Amino acid sequence: MKRDLIEVTDLSKRQILDLLSLTFKIKKTPRRFSQSLKGKILALIFKKPSTRTRVSFEAGMIQLGGAAINLSSSGMQTSRGESVKDTAKTLSGYVDAIMIRTTSDEEVFELARESSVPVINGLSKSYHPCQALSDIFTVCEKKGLDEKSVYDFDWSSVKIVFVGDSNNVSRSLVNLSTILKFEFGLMCPERFLFDRSFLAEAKKKNPNFHFTSRIDRKYFSDAEFIYTDVWASMGDEKESAARRRIFSKYQVNSRLVNMAAKNVSVMHCLPAMRGQEITDEVMDSAKSIVFQQAENRMHFQKALLYRLLK
Ligand code: CP
Ligand code: NVA
Repeated sequence: MKRDLIEVTDLSKRQILDLLSLTFKIKKTPRRFSQSLKGKILALIFKKPSTRTRVSFEAGMIQLGGAAINLSSSGMQTSRGESVKDTAKTLSGYVDAIMIRTTSDEEVFELARESSVPVINGLSKSYHPCQALSDIFTVCEKKGLDEKSVYDFDWSSVKIVFVGDSNNVSRSLVNLSTILKFEFGLMCPERFLFDRSFLAEAKKKNPNFHFTSRIDRKYFSDAEFIYTDVWASMGDEKESAARRRIFSKYQVNSRLVNMAAKNVSVMHCLPAMRGQEITDEVMDSAKSIVFQQAENRMHFQKALLYRLLK
């Protein structure tokens, strides 16, 4: 049966732990895997810009002995009206997997339904599963885990506080917290919070999920991980100025970082709008692990591709 990764909830806890363990192995001994996807081809469809996702998937495929074809959507016949269904059926005859970054969730669902090869969501309106999963690998590294100890880890010992928008990245992190049961706190202005039914459902699945529209100093005091993302995601640019005003209290700056645990790590999926959601001072500090996160996108996605294609 073909497998897709549309959102983290497509995976069981056991499958996630297996992927994290494999990521440790691949990162430690990349040469052992260098021919493992020989002859396999991944198509990459981008309807939104990307630096990390594109390069990490391409480089990852090459490092596994396979190849990647980058398809800019403006050069495809979909830009002239060819259907997602016909594109899916055509590409399935040429390549072994398809990664898509697009504006709508429905397009990813449809592509997955109509393709006979695995489809990976490389970011859509509501989800960014590769980001959330590779970030949790970075958390595992910070916690000193390895390919074996990741299976026995007590996830309730992890506390991540996300300060910022209810967007694709924070949604995938919330969903991941409902599977692994780590503590996840979301601090987001009231009018941008996820809808009530999503929040209630997440809370039911993970009692360690909390949300508030306040910057809660007490809640920060033992946070080991602070996470932020842009205030206006791709597609929200028209609202940038209004969002800058509303989110200004939610900036990850030294004052906020000093409220958290001494050993706190600061996370960001990137790209960052320096001076808005995160200051230079924090981003360039020793507490920042943003480039470790960026690098780990590739190691994690190699593990994912290996599992889907081998
Ligand atoms: N974090 C992330 O997905 O980065 P890109 O937009 O550069 O791919
Ligand atoms: N929330 C951001 C993530 C970018 C990787 C966006 O969708 O633009």
